[in-house]
Amino acid sequence: MSNPMMIVSTLDELRSARAILNEPVGLVPTMGFLHEGHLSLVRRAREECASVAVSIFVNPTQFSPEEDLDSYPRDLERDLGLLERLGVNLVWTPTPGIMYPSGYQTWVQVDALTKPLEGAQRPGHFRGVTTVVTKLFNGVQPDRAYFGQKDAQQVAVIHRMALDLNFPLEVVVCPTVREEDGLAMSSRNKYLGPDERQAATVLYRALSAAGDAHAGGERDAEKLRTLMREIIAAEPLAVAQYVSCADYDTLEELKTIRGKSLLSMAVFVGSTRLIDNFILG
Ligand code: PAJ
Repeated sequence: MSNPMMIVSTLDELRSARAILNEPVGLVPTMGFLHEGHLSLVRRAREECASVAVSIFVNPTQFSPEEDLDSYPRDLERDLGLLERLGVNLVWTPTPGIMYPSGYQTWVQVDALTKPLEGAQRPGHFRGVTTVVTKLFNGVQPDRAYFGQKDAQQVAVIHRMALDLNFPLEVVVCPTVREEDGLAMSSRNKYLGPDERQAATVLYRALSAAGDAHAGGERDAEKLRTLMREIIAAEPLAVAQYVSCADYDTLEELKTIRGKSLLSMAVFVGSTRLIDNFILG
C-alpha cells in the first residue's frame, strides 16, 4: 500500500509534508478543475519522479479586473479524487491570504518575452504567473516542474525565469492534449455552448492548415498568418484577437521562417477566449 495523499494548505503544513517526500520531487502547478491536459502532466511526473506534488490555486494576480476570476470553474472534491487515483503524494491548496498576505508588494517580472502575444492582450498577466510560480517553487522546492505546451508563452517565460533566478530545478514541457476533433483541452471549454463548441475547432483547423502549408515548403510567415486569419474569419462564431507566426526563442514576429518557430493565436468563440499553438521545425 502506498501512503495516503497528503492535502495541505498552510505553509507550516506544506513544510512538514514536503520534508517526508522521497526525492526527486515533481511539481505540477494548476488552477484546478482538472482535465486530461493537467492529468497528462501528473502522469509524466509520476513516471519520472519518486514523489509528485500538485498545487491547486486560482491565482488572482494573473487575472485582470475584467477577466473571469470569480466565474473561473472550481471543483476541489473532484480534483482531489482524480489526483488520488493517479498516486499523487502531496496536494497544496493555499488560500489567497497565504499567497498574498496583507500588505503584499513583491513581484517577479520577466521583461521582453512577456511583451508580445498573450502579454500584449493581458497586461499584468505574466507578472502574476511568474510571481505565483516563484512562490510555488519556493514552497514545494521541486526537482522538476511540469508545464503544458498548450500555454506556449507561459512555458517560454517560466524557462527564462528559472534560468535567470537560478532555480535549482528542471522545467519539463509536455505536449498539448486535445479532444478528438482537435480542440485543445482547457478549463474554459466549459463555457462553450453546443454551437460554440463546434466552432471552437477553428483554432485547430487554422493551425493545421498553416502547419500543412509549412510542411509543403511555405516559408513566408505573413502568408501563414493570412491563411490562419482567413480560416478563422470564415467561422461565424469566431473572432481572432491575434494570429502569430513568431520566432520560437524570442517570440518576435517573423518575416521569413528559418529555424524553430511558433504559430499561435487567441480567438474569441462567442464570449470565451481560447488560445492554441503549433511548433514548426
Ligand atoms: P492551468 O490553466 O490550470 O494549467 C495548469 C497546467 O496545465 C499548465 O502548465 C498548462 O499549460 C497545462 N495544460 C492546460 N491545458 C493543457 C492541455 N490541453 N494539454 C497539456 N497541458 C495543458 O497554467 C496555469 O494553470 C497557471 O498559469 C499556473 C501555471 C498554475 C500559475 O497560476
